[in-house]
Amino acid sequence: MEIIKVKDYEEMSEKAANIVIEHMKSLKRPVIGFATGSTPIGLYNCLVKKYQQKEVSFKHATTFNLDEYVGLPKENKNSYHYYMHENLFQHIDIQPENVHIPNGMAEDLEQECMTYDRLISKNKIDIQILGLGLNGHIGFNEPGTSFKSRTHIVKLDQSTRKANARFFQSIDEVPTKAITMGIETIMESKKILLLVSGKEKSDALARLLGNSDISEEFPASILRQHNDVTVIADEEALKKI
Ligand code: GLP
Repeated sequence: MEIIKVKDYEEMSEKAANIVIEHMKSLKRPVIGFATGSTPIGLYNCLVKKYQQKEVSFKHATTFNLDEYVGLPKENKNSYHYYMHENLFQHIDIQPENVHIPNGMAEDLEQECMTYDRLISKNKIDIQILGLGLNGHIGFNEPGTSFKSRTHIVKLDQSTRKANARFFQSIDEVPTKAITMGIETIMESKKILLLVSGKEKSDALARLLGNSDISEEFPASILRQHNDVTVIADEEALKKI
């Protein structure tokens, strides 16, 4: 695992954008895996800025998002469809047919997971952006999720619902389920870029970078077995290292 230490959130976002763009430029048809949450918003802002400055084009890019809540329509401000559209897709030249986000409104959710997973297997992700959950979750793969999991439906941890309640009116509105790429699906990405910022992530980051076991009880620990992971972390997040 390569660790890039940066001063703060801005520097993390800028560094991440540079890595993504450089990687995209080395590929004819880049496949990018995107994440949601607060962490990558700065990265998306930088990508938009660099697109506007003509440093990058997304015309030939294909994207896959990690996850989506079950039961929130695309127009709902808290859906990840809405988030991606607002923060990135509406500002760049991505072709709508090349954008993939799990459909949490699908009538047959199991089928949706299978179809989504197959599509990823056919279009291997070149670079996957990841954030880190307070309990070590990646995507929405909560502690206890099998390392062999493929795209599946998850019941969200109460701690995750609580952490994400800040985006909703109240915790009762936070969906109880989500669709997420599985851990094995994520691990098949050729390169992984994990972004970690802020002191509230310092325990999780210390556990990831420390010598503790690779265990399904701490999903992110599996990343130590991947051969191309770059972690960009800021000073606050690195406080307990
Ligand atoms: C959320 C998302 C993850 C994200 C993580 C951290 O629940 N499903 O993809 O990486 O939790 O979120 P944040 O960046 O807001 O701390």
